[in-house]
Amino acid sequence: MRTDIITIFPQMFDTPMSEAMIGIAREKGALDLHVHDLRDWTHDRHRTTDDEPYGGGPGMVMKPEPLFESVRAVSSQDPVEPHVIFLTPVGETFTQGLAEELATYDRLLFVCGRYEGFDERAYELADRRLSIGDYVLTGGELAAMVVVDAVARLLPGVLGHENSTQDESFTTGLLEYPQYTRPAVFEDMNVPDVLRSGDHGRIAAYRRECALRTTARLRPDLLMNFEVTEHEQSIIDDELGRSPRD
Ligand SMILES: C[S@@+](CC[C@H](N)C(=O)[O-])C[C@H]1O[C@@H](n2cnc3c(N)ncnc32)[C@H](O)[C@@H]1O
Repeated sequence: MRTDIITIFPQMFDTPMSEAMIGIAREKGALDLHVHDLRDWTHDRHRTTDDEPYGGGPGMVMKPEPLFESVRAVSSQDPVEPHVIFLTPVGETFTQGLAEELATYDRLLFVCGRYEGFDERAYELADRRLSIGDYVLTGGELAAMVVVDAVARLLPGVLGHENSTQDESFTTGLLEYPQYTRPAVFEDMNVPDVLRSGDHGRIAAYRRECALRTTARLRPDLLMNFEVTEHEQSIIDDELGRSPRD
């Protein structure tokens, strides 16, 4: 997948987008990342990308001209039309489901905001506005990295095992069950016997129950539209201290 990022801080991407899984995804050619400096599309001595807001108010606003020029120029660098994503708190909230959807595109282009955000007219360029959560960052760069990271690990061939994303939190609709590795006993804390039993049926049932209990306790909202069997509902009721009639 080709991924372009337009930012006024291209160097912010150097290490996070070169190390570990993302570095491997790039080495393998699964992720073809291009980071562009928005200031390359300014035409004044100071390479200005912001200006005062009409109507007054605090802070500065990102000027539309470099945004339009850069998105058009970067888009035309490859025959594949990109899916253009503006990072903004005033956007759809990013989820694992959206990561899965974005992983199906051949090309993504992210535009990172700074200051008080974008001139509203720049959104004409956007196919999508994405927020990574209900809080305000100083810029879109960290948000873009979060989205690229979540998407890149879903691309074919990036993770070691093709299955390793299947049981994960949110992918199943539940939070993940607890995981353990050696030693079996650490500072008087035991790995549950069932996980050492070799009985795959019991292990799967145990993990499912743990996932249901953890989700019911920590993220009951995830269970709102989640279909469960009668037995699973009784596990949820038990975890929440409800009698089955409640
Ligand atoms: C200081 S923020 C602007 C906030 C804007 N004035 C508002 O109240 O919605 C500057 C830039 O950071 C990025 N940003 C901040 N919070 C974000 C979030 N939760 N998700 C995605 N991008 C975010 C956006 O690119 C935004 O243009």
